[in-house]
Amino acid sequence: MESSITLHVDGTERTVVVDHRTTLLDALRDRLAVTSVKKGCDHGQCGSCTVLLDGRRHLTCLTLAVAQDGAEVVTAAGLGTGDAGDGDDELHPVQQAFLEQDGYQCGYCTPGQVCSAVGMLDEVKQGHPSHVTDDLTAAGGLDDLTDEEIRERMSGNLCRCGAYVNIVSAIHEAATR
Ligand code: FES
Ligand code: FES
Repeated sequence: MESSITLHVDGTERTVVVDHRTTLLDALRDRLAVTSVKKGCDHGQCGSCTVLLDGRRHLTCLTLAVAQDGAEVVTAAGLGTGDAGDGDDELHPVQQAFLEQDGYQCGYCTPGQVCSAVGMLDEVKQGHPSHVTDDLTAAGGLDDLTDEEIRERMSGNLCRCGAYVNIVSAIHEAATR
């Protein structure tokens, strides 16, 4: 069975007919040619397919496209603010921090890492606790973000190159901006 769905992808409305078994990842990459979202494991284990879906981070390989009709999808390519007036694209603070802290090697995992970092910093700001948050009543606030909190909150995003040390530094850097 197929249905026509509309997705708002990085600020552009896109309509596509999908089989109901199509994942959001395959709809984006194979049907809409949105290659800024990466397919790693295709089994919910690596995090490389992470996007912001209506503002929250999601694994697109575990999400059926047909269930997201009308959703706002932001991939790593849609995080910046476009032309800053000087001909250069303005990067999102998390993207800029990854660049400055050398938070990638091959870069394959980077789009998912960056989307996940944006989502998790927002979760921290909103006071969502993590598995390693000691005081649940005090959760919330980027000032107290520890390495342990970052590692736990980013644990769904794997990096085969092992750029973790610099990714943690980049997220600390972005949290202060
Ligand atoms: S491709 Fe989705 S988690 Fe690996
Ligand atoms: S930078 Fe290569 S997989 Fe992360």
